[in-house]
Amino acid sequence: MADETRDGSVTIEALMDETRVFEPSAEFVSQANISSPSIYEDAKHDRLGWWAEQAEKMLWRKKWDQVLDWSNAPFAKWFVGAELNITESCLDRHVQANPDKVAFYFEGEPGDSRVITYKELYEEVCQFANGLADLGVQKGDRVAIYMGMIPELPIALLACARLGAPHSVVFGGFSSDSLRDRVNDAEAKVVITCDEGWRNGGRIELKNFADKAVEECPSIEKMVVVQRTGGDVQMVEGRDIYYHDLIDGKAKERPATITDSEDMLFVLYTSGTTARPKGIVHTVGGYLVGAATTHRLVFDIKPDDIYFCTADIGWVTGHSYIVYGPLANGVTSVIYEGVPNYPDKDRFWEIVEKYKVTQIYTAPTAIRTFMKWGTEYPERHDLSSLRVIGTVGEPINPEAWIWYNTFIGGGKAPIVDTWWQTETGHIMISPIPGVTRTKPGSATIPLPGMGADIVDDEGVSVPNGSGGYLVLTEPWPGMLRTIYKDPERFKDVYWSRFSKPSENKWVYFAGDGAKKDLDGYFWLLGRVDDVMNISGHRISTLEVESALVDHPAVAEAAVVGRADSTTGQAIAAFVTLKGGNQGDEKLLAELREHVAVKIGKIARPASIVFTDELPKTRSGKIMRRLLRDISEQRKLGDVTTLANSDVVNEIAKRASSSMSKQAD
Ligand code: WTA
Repeated sequence: MADETRDGSVTIEALMDETRVFEPSAEFVSQANISSPSIYEDAKHDRLGWWAEQAEKMLWRKKWDQVLDWSNAPFAKWFVGAELNITESCLDRHVQANPDKVAFYFEGEPGDSRVITYKELYEEVCQFANGLADLGVQKGDRVAIYMGMIPELPIALLACARLGAPHSVVFGGFSSDSLRDRVNDAEAKVVITCDEGWRNGGRIELKNFADKAVEECPSIEKMVVVQRTGGDVQMVEGRDIYYHDLIDGKAKERPATITDSEDMLFVLYTSGTTARPKGIVHTVGGYLVGAATTHRLVFDIKPDDIYFCTADIGWVTGHSYIVYGPLANGVTSVIYEGVPNYPDKDRFWEIVEKYKVTQIYTAPTAIRTFMKWGTEYPERHDLSSLRVIGTVGEPINPEAWIWYNTFIGGGKAPIVDTWWQTETGHIMISPIPGVTRTKPGSATIPLPGMGADIVDDEGVSVPNGSGGYLVLTEPWPGMLRTIYKDPERFKDVYWSRFSKPSENKWVYFAGDGAKKDLDGYFWLLGRVDDVMNISGHRISTLEVESALVDHPAVAEAAVVGRADSTTGQAIAAFVTLKGGNQGDEKLLAELREHVAVKIGKIARPASIVFTDELPKTRSGKIMRRLLRDISEQRKLGDVTTLANSDVVNEIAKRASSSMSKQAD
């Protein structure tokens, strides 16, 4: 039977037909770090004890007095009383044990490369930390980072962490306005950027964007500029300094600033259901333990592995699974700067073959793109080194899962479909590859130490075979601690829907719809709020609407995510114009560009429909569901609650003609 999800899609029907089950192969199990399901039982039996055991694998200056303090829920404290500096787990201990082990193989988009050992990484992090300290950065100061995917990016994060200065990374694809807003919210003192970044053979003018942003950022005192392309940039006297000049002659050691387990490690902004991004706050101790533990379990990490996560460090996946998790585990990683089709559509596979990559971690949207390009590209290369292959960011459709399994995993590398969020800090639901049977399209079951469930509108756990809302039922080490400077919003967004404070029952609402199958497996069905998922990136409908309304010709705008076979969802906008404006091709192009400038290219609508009115309920709420139906050209739902129901047919007519013309 086809259940309709809130967004009206019929994904469940396809999922319920999906009955294929993949057992971990005997060959994989025989070499796996974890091959017994008892790990789930052990963790359940003594959850906090199990987490303490994982924490023992990290380097602490002072051990904790208490594993978890949940007395002030939903504000958690993990490893209470402990002291550490996260970079000592990620660098110092590996430098001692194995200084010449490679930390990063960097692969530049134009074809240049750089090999960085743990010792070299340690030394450059210390030099940069010394440089930042000279610029006045102290423990607790926020530092904004706005760069391309070059080695100096993880170095910048680690240098901040060395000083106990929280970093706030802003994805290099965001616009200067987005950067400005995030810098101002975080009140960052310093911004680190590069002259330009390489992307698809072209140059992204990061320093120019940063200059423009900083004009309206009163908190910024200094700008550090890494030279990547050597492009012409304007250095502002007294404010700007080149990275190479800053680190020149600096000591290659720097004592780590000791932080409390609950000191802030970073703030990372993510979209919510309002136009204002949320500053998600993560703290040092729990985040380290969560990221390192999940990385080790999910990817079956071994000392000689060559691990490749294709995400950008501007997103949480890069924070947890390029920087902190892998380095804490002493792994060798590949970092790639550019797009997967430069110079040709086999770039990822060329990298896998070149470095004999053992784990690759990428996004369903990328996999669907590879499917479209065809199998000839992976077939050009020997991918037999791959042992575990992972996905993150959005639901993976069974067809893409099978393709990934067949053409990338060679039918033998287990797939780990990992569900988590910026807020959760690390993976929550995922197979353990040597233990968990997988099903194409399901993230399977919660990892050991995690509590998750699916509940109905009343917050009651649904029986197997039913759908509802995904919730997290137990606090976990890497959980967000708050929204930066807005604890009320934190409580309201995540903890108000299903918690019962009077009974001291705290339930985290993730904002995702999900279904449990008859075996209790979790099938994620996408967001249930007004957040779109474009190529695995969360963008709020309201942010795009605000950007559109910001244009002088626009009176009102409504934005929805419509299903798209490659990007998961695509942005469909409906716009009413102020009198005297013409909804023509020229304005259409201008509006799309306007959104790109206001937010970033990822937020540029795939289609814009000009209409005289937007469909609204009697209380004046825009009926997004109806617009989604129109965008996906389904039969229209019930429109009787509509105040202006005849506009719908009009919009539908215009939408079908204009959307067939527009494509990105
Ligand atoms: C979605 C990315 C289905 C989900 C790490 C979540 C997924 C949002 C999966 C978080 C998955 C992430 N299957 N959906 N394996 N992984 N999502 O904060 O909607 O950028 O709430 O974190 O992505 O996106 P975020």
